[in-house]
Amino acid sequence: MHTLEKVLSEEEIRNKVQGVARTISSDYKDKNLILIGILKGSFIFLADLVRNITIPVKIDFIGASSYGSDTTTSGTIKITKDLNIDIKNQDIMIIEDIVDTGLTLNFLVDYLKTFQPASIKICTHIDKCERRETKIKIDYTCHSINKGFLVGYGLDCNEHYRNLPDIYHLKL
Ligand code: PRP
Repeated sequence: MHTLEKVLSEEEIRNKVQGVARTISSDYKDKNLILIGILKGSFIFLADLVRNITIPVKIDFIGASSYGSDTTTSGTIKITKDLNIDIKNQDIMIIEDIVDTGLTLNFLVDYLKTFQPASIKICTHIDKCERRETKIKIDYTCHSINKGFLVGYGLDCNEHYRNLPDIYHLKL
């Protein structure tokens, strides 16, 4: 049994997601934006974000996994599902639930660049910088949290807790 300590409520999450969606809608109002959700963790954030974005967008997903069933990153990123939309010469935005070491994003940005998009930006629900191992420029962030193993709102521990509407610090 894990102990869960709430760090972000549903209401705090909703307010920030709405704010970031407004900013993205304004920044991309004359562009054709493709949002690329990183599975699995981003599925809830992406679903809430797109329902608050007021400009036309396309949506695709890439499956990437680094943690396996452990609570620390393995450092090796696996693509578990590839893109279905052609992103050549398109403005794309990577949608993440959390950036921790930055290794997943580092890998994915290099991977997506091989498809020659016009631009790549990064939007994350949580920026957790304590264990950052690589320099990553994040363009849109909802919450910055220094440390802790977080679950809920898409984030898991061994596939549990993704469905919780709030975000919790899991005490091991
Ligand atoms: C999590 C999360 C990010 C990544 C961030 O995914 O969704 O994609 O780790 O960690 P990093 O910055 O240290 O690379 P995970 O590999 O756990 O897969 P999941 O999304 O299926 O839970």
